[in-house]
This record gives sequence, structure tokens and C-alpha cells, in this order.
Amino acid sequence: MTETSTQSGGRPSLPMQGVAQPSREEVLHLPRVYISSHPVMAHKITALRDKNTQPPEFYRLVKEIGALLAYESTTNLALEPSPIETPMEPMVGQRLAGGIGVTPILRAGLGLAEAFRDVIPDIQVWHLGLRRDEDTLQAMEYYNRLPHKVDLQVAYAIDPMLATGGSAIDAINVLKRRGIPRLSYVCIIAAPYGLLKLSQTHPDIDIYVAALDETLNDKGYILPGLGDAGDRQFGTF
Ligand code: PRP
Ligand code: URA
Repeated sequence: MTETSTQSGGRPSLPMQGVAQPSREEVLHLPRVYISSHPVMAHKITALRDKNTQPPEFYRLVKEIGALLAYESTTNLALEPSPIETPMEPMVGQRLAGGIGVTPILRAGLGLAEAFRDVIPDIQVWHLGLRRDEDTLQAMEYYNRLPHKVDLQVAYAIDPMLATGGSAIDAINVLKRRGIPRLSYVCIIAAPYGLLKLSQTHPDIDIYVAALDETLNDKGYILPGLGDAGDRQFGTF
């Protein structure tokens, strides 16, 4: 057995046991990291975290929070002139320029993808399945429906939970190999450990976080967090 899977006495250990983690304060002002301060967001996330919130309500809240995150994370999108006629007179309006894509990290990213589509209906959805091995916390790719043709100017990797950062880092690696000019990562809850890892590994992307939590427990779950975001969305306890 490896050093990470046993303690010195041979007793099985947990993957984050003894791993040093940064504090919340240490990651609050990382470059290109945007942490929401909107009161409506805070209100909805509290309802999401509540252990009494059942899957139908949980999924509805993920979509509502996802819509707010979609607004917050798209403030820098490029616009192009769009000549139209109002009932009153011609004018040159504006429309979003270039292809926009969203990559939900399956499964838990699916609710957020629906929210992004509600906000920007002609967004492309590139599905990527990553599953975290709960013993090693390594992300494993099991599904990839990224198209061969790339005509995006910007893509958003989206996932409710940024814990150790393994899944987020792998998802951005996959998107970078497609040569998309601008990439962002969007999540609901981040742990300082994963946020720092993602920011250091991919300093050239924007990272949008709805709430920054305190720490990871020994199993790699976010505290206070909300538990397992996939299970709570889809009722698979
Ligand atoms: C969860 C979550 C993230 C990942 C975060 O997914 O939705 O994808 O774990 O952990 P990390 O930052 O340590 O990689 P999980 O692998 O449990 O799959 P699921 O979405 O199918 O529930
Ligand atoms: N994945 C989750 O769904 N929740 C956590 O706290 C960590 C990873």
C-alpha cells in the first residue's frame, strides 16, 4: 500500500488526512477569481445547503443559482453591432459575438448547464463526464462528447463543487486542448484548497464562485458545504 493509503500503524487513512490547506482569507484575493457578494445568491445558497432541502427543490435552486452565476460570469462577453428596426425607427443594437460554449462536468454540472441555456439559449453544450475516485480523489474521465469542430470564442466549465480541484483542472486541460481562445470556470461552492490549486494551475482563466467555504474534511468533502451535489440533485443516496 502507498503512503497515502495507510497510516504508519497500517491503519487505513483518508485522502485529505494531514494535508495542509490554505485558509479562506489566503485565497480571497487571488487574481482572476470572482466571488459573488450578491445577497440573493447568499439567500439561495443557504436554502441549497440545508439538509432538509429535498432533491426537487435542490435541483430548482441549482438552476436559479446557475442563472445568477450565468449573469455574473458573462459580464465581459464581446458584443457586435446588430442593425434592427424597432416599431418606431431603425437602430443599431448589439448582440453577443462569437460562439459560446458550456461544459457541464457530469453529473452534477447538468443543472447548471440548463440554467446557462435558459440565459443564453443558443449556447453550445459540450458534455464531459468526470468521476472522482473517493479513495484517491483523482478525477477519471468516463464520457466525452466534445465535438471535433471548434467554433467557440469562449467556453465555461461548470460544476457545483470545487473541492480538491482535480475535476476542474482536468476539465480545463481538456478544453485547452481544443484551442478555445477564452476559458472560464464556474462553480457554486469552492474550498480554498481547490480554488488555490485551480488558480495556480490555470492562471489564464477566469474563475467565478458563488460561495467560498472553510475547508475540506479528511474525505475531501467541503465544509460546511452541502454534501454530495450529484446525489442531492438526482436523489441517488
Ligand atoms: C463531484 C463534484 C465535482 C467533484 C469535485 O463530482 O460535482 O465534479 O466531485 O471534487 P474535486 O474538486 O475534488 O475533483 P463526483 O465525482 O462526485 O461525480 P458526480 O457529479 O457524478 O456526483
Ligand atoms: N463533491 C461534492 O459533491 N461535494 C463535496 O463536498 C465535494 C465533492
